[in-house]
Amino acid sequence: MISLNKPFIERKDLKYFYDVLNSKILTDGKYQMKSENFIKSLIKSRFVAVTHSCTAALEISALLLKLKKGDEVLMPSYGFVSISNAITLRGAKPIFVDVNPKTLNICTDDILKKITKKTVAIYLIHYSGHSCDMKKILSIKKKYKLFIIEDAAHAFPAKYKNKYLGTIGDIGVFSFHETKNLTSGQGGCISINNKNFMKRVNHILDKGTNRKDLIKNYKKKIIKSNNKKYYSWVDFGSEYRASELTCALLYSQLKKIKFIQRKRQILWNKYKKLFKDINSDKFYLIEPLKNTTSSYHLIVLLFKNLNESDRFKDFLQKNGVAATFHYVPLHSSKMGRLYSSARLPMTENLFRRVVRLPLFPTMRISEFKKINKLIKKFFNK
Ligand SMILES: Cc1ncc(COP(=O)(O)O)c(C=O)c1O
Repeated sequence: MISLNKPFIERKDLKYFYDVLNSKILTDGKYQMKSENFIKSLIKSRFVAVTHSCTAALEISALLLKLKKGDEVLMPSYGFVSISNAITLRGAKPIFVDVNPKTLNICTDDILKKITKKTVAIYLIHYSGHSCDMKKILSIKKKYKLFIIEDAAHAFPAKYKNKYLGTIGDIGVFSFHETKNLTSGQGGCISINNKNFMKRVNHILDKGTNRKDLIKNYKKKIIKSNNKKYYSWVDFGSEYRASELTCALLYSQLKKIKFIQRKRQILWNKYKKLFKDINSDKFYLIEPLKNTTSSYHLIVLLFKNLNESDRFKDFLQKNGVAATFHYVPLHSSKMGRLYSSARLPMTENLFRRVVRLPLFPTMRISEFKKINKLIKKFFNK
């Protein structure tokens, strides 16, 4: 089976693991610093911290926003459960928003219908690595004075105009899970743009303590017996940071980012050409908006007809190609129904017609040829 995704792991990644194990520094070491500095300067962020997952980064964002009971937070229903958990774990209410069928990103018209006096923030997802319409989103932010959290789990490194996704709203989060463009096994990262959040973020990352304020390089310093300033519990928090082994793998991946991204882009464009040649009106390709740069995380088709999309997936799977749908809408899930009775016609109608195809940098020419041939055969071309 040609899988949907394959992490780009090489023998040279091992070098960094040995370095960490030899150093005996397994937390908060040099690879944490190197990864954070690399990402910070790449995406031109004010603050970056590497976390053990994007889920962790989302939970940090909800703590930074001080979400509480009575607050309403808008988010796409065609999206990922870590956002709805981050919101509900704080006692706030997720308000599920419909999807834009052209981009599979959050529908800005539906956002406008769902804003109330209780709305505090909007979480958006740059689905498949393609940017949301940030011009519209920022004008809504300004008009209604809302916080914007960009879930850029798919979108490292992607851009809206000349700005990196995840650095445009108040907070951005990224994923380095096994399935993402760069992987640290499980891993993530938070980027802060809003200066008001800078003071608390290290406390939240450090289990609610002010460790970082008092001890700049705690690996080197012994806390002396006459020390008057101990670090202590000052805020809510948890163990959100990534371990040094995670950071070592992430750093190794970051050094290969140009190669990985170039390969993904080339492959994505090959698929695009294939679909153009097929020239069928039975489906369309989900493409990036003008003036944006995708991270080419997923190659996604939307079929017009449900039976046709099922037949297409079946045909490819039976012939050894992983082709699959995506997100089950959150508003109609068991947990989602506890918070919402909304009907979201577009999301409900569309999610089963989505088809994702294999996309990873080490795909062999023969593998792409096989996929190409099968797709052409399916469409009688
Ligand atoms: C849009 C989105 N946000 C968040 C996450 C959670 O990422 P992680 O597995 O790093 O916690 C995912 C995972 O696939 C995702 O697709």
